[in-house]
Amino acid sequence: MMKHTKPNVYVGMSADLIHPGHLSVIEMARDLGEVTIGLLTDEAIASYKRLPYMNYEQRKIVIENIKGVSNVIPQNTLDYVPNLLELQPDYVVHGDDWKTGVQRSVRDRVIEVLREWGGELIEPKYTEGISSTRLNAAMREIGTTPEIRMQRFRRLLASSPIIRVLEVHNGLTSLIVENANFQKGETFVEFDAMWVSSLTDSVAKGKPDNGLVDLTSRVRTIEEALEGTTKPLIFDGDSGGLAEHFVFTVRTLERLGVAAIVIEDKEGLKRNSLYGTDVPQTQADPEAFARKITAGKKAQITNDFAVIARIESLILKAGLADALARAQIYIDAGADAIMIHSSEEAPDEILEFCRAYATIDNRVPLVVAPTTYNEITEEELAEAGVQVVIYANHLLRSSYPGMVKVAESILEHGRAKESEQFCMPISECLSLISPTGL
Ligand code: SPV
Ligand code: MG
Repeated sequence: MMKHTKPNVYVGMSADLIHPGHLSVIEMARDLGEVTIGLLTDEAIASYKRLPYMNYEQRKIVIENIKGVSNVIPQNTLDYVPNLLELQPDYVVHGDDWKTGVQRSVRDRVIEVLREWGGELIEPKYTEGISSTRLNAAMREIGTTPEIRMQRFRRLLASSPIIRVLEVHNGLTSLIVENANFQKGETFVEFDAMWVSSLTDSVAKGKPDNGLVDLTSRVRTIEEALEGTTKPLIFDGDSGGLAEHFVFTVRTLERLGVAAIVIEDKEGLKRNSLYGTDVPQTQADPEAFARKITAGKKAQITNDFAVIARIESLILKAGLADALARAQIYIDAGADAIMIHSSEEAPDEILEFCRAYATIDNRVPLVVAPTTYNEITEEELAEAGVQVVIYANHLLRSSYPGMVKVAESILEHGRAKESEQFCMPISECLSLISPTGL
């Protein structure tokens, strides 16, 4: 007698926050045969939308305990084809919502590949679950913890080819980074993290970017930015100060759940890098700076906090070889990432650095802030080996012209009516922040 085996059924899912829609898909799959869940990895999800709230291991524990699930395997890409070729399932089950929208081409490829062995796609009517907008809102309601926020940055580094970071300088701008999004073809893009810039934190307080705004004040800004948000925060720590002070700064930031500090290899009176060589700026001795990195790494308590070493050799015209030698020294000292900065309008010297950097064996992720060389795209930077792109000052710089225009309009007309066109409606202003703070 022929051995009777149950048909194999494949279901791909992210399974971040499980809702009844997921369960009805699994139930249908269970009725058809033995269910294998292809659980999308963080990397697969990050390729087209926001990183899930729970990490892969957490999502796996949830999904493998759902009735009717026999196996859970990783699906490393949004594309089902690699797993389908391997398993050759009799059925794939997916809610019919993917017939339109970003997943349509993924669906087409599933149908095409199933044809090779006569497999069938079953598409139960999609049960309304939680929309991604509502999911994001729910996530903010759940909130986050310092640990989760810090780990989120590490998860991004491990899963995302490009991490977009935008400057914030208060609670309001942090909400923009938290909520801004754009549907770009098949991918849903949003910012991954916040940058608390020394330049904009200073300018927003009417101060120069020369270290005058002290850490206590900078921490107030950080707290505002953390208040209503869940995304990781990267802190611009100038030079990090004395090593003896830096170790305390690391502990303070880590306690707050700041994911990373960037320290630049300069000493003496702090000047903004974008002055380039127009003002006197001194680069630190690389070995002394390396000792500061090591001291900071030793001071941190978790494994998650990151110290990012920023190299100013290109800013100070010390040349590529110097920049590269410093990168090696700072990596050996324990830097979790290297930031390379430039004030040139063309990206050439940055790209040249990237090419040379790629030859370093124990290299760590590369960070840039393309303020002056702003024509280059994230895609081109990723291609060159950059993983973190910081838009370092844009929310502050964009708000200022609007405010000046309104001030001048009121002066011109002797009333505020004409300035209204430049203002958000009061109703929007009132509803922007909910009274519960969520
Ligand atoms: C900042 O945003 O404060 C920075 C980047 O450090 S830059 O202004 O380009 O030096
Ligand atoms: Mg700065």
